[in-house]
Amino acid sequence: MNFRCSSFHAPLISITVVNFILRLISAVKCHLYTALLFTWTDYKTVFFPITVFACATAPARSCSSLLWCCVWVWFHQLMCNVSNQVCGRKEDKINHPWRPLPSGRVSESQAPVIRWATVACCVSMSSMYEPELVHTTLSLVAITFAHDELGGGNNVVGKALCTAAAYVCFEFGATTIIGVMDFVSVTAVIISGILTFTASHAQDFPDVEGDKITGRMTFPIYAPELSRFFTLFISIAWSIFLSWFWKVGPISTALLTGFGTYVGLRYYFWRTLEADKRSYLTFNIWLMAAHVLPLHARTSVLAF
Ligand SMILES: *[C@@H]1O[C@H](CO)[C@@H](O)[C@H](O)[C@H]1NC(C)=O
Repeated sequence: MNFRCSSFHAPLISITVVNFILRLISAVKCHLYTALLFTWTDYKTVFFPITVFACATAPARSCSSLLWCCVWVWFHQLMCNVSNQVCGRKEDKINHPWRPLPSGRVSESQAPVIRWATVACCVSMSSMYEPELVHTTLSLVAITFAHDELGGGNNVVGKALCTAAAYVCFEFGATTIIGVMDFVSVTAVIISGILTFTASHAQDFPDVEGDKITGRMTFPIYAPELSRFFTLFISIAWSIFLSWFWKVGPISTALLTGFGTYVGLRYYFWRTLEADKRSYLTFNIWLMAAHVLPLHARTSVLAF
């Protein structure tokens, strides 16, 4: 028996091509993994809530617009997250040592290159889709710059303002791509901006240790007791207000308010690091539910 066949005589060139493709695949995998690490903590705070909000506010025109919306939101989230992490290396060493910069996966000299490459990527993506969207992207770039490079995010009010403005840009962009910016959409985006302004500190509770060391002033550090009470208050108050504003039915109102109360009480009574991490996850689920209510203005699905 002779199994020595042609592959042993394969010309050198095809081996080189196969080798090249294999290397290419592993390089792409490696970069995708880096991008995943940059964005990991914020799928629950940006990607899913924004996409769900856009779908609920301006029902998708087509599958391709939904797909575009997802890609657009993901790249813009990456842009913001890279910027944030390039500027917040010190506190990440304590709070998130596995991120690409503190772990050494991305070097000091590569960091600014990636930071501005993602900006270029987002600008060209928006201009390809619709020139109007470039304004939204540039606004988001300016807000991230003010928050990270100019240190606007280092005080309580600046941070809340920048976060709210960034969410407004995300929601505006995503809703424009998916559907239309009519009266309902614009109202929903404005309300969401105000909600974000009053609620963005919810993410700072689990990060208190790292933020204290780097001297970053957040609401939970500035007023440990008041910030917890405030969180309890706004999660109940917003649930009631939004249910009333969007005129959803009594059962929907009770569900949202019950959930909001649960989230608020969690923050108020359970104050360990582990509890705060879980509370923040629960908070984001509540926030997503609160952002679905505009759907009722289109379809009356929440009349029960
Ligand atoms: C990721 O980007 C979002 C949107 O600007 C921001 O709210 C969040 O804090 C960023 N997170 C990190 C870890 O960079």
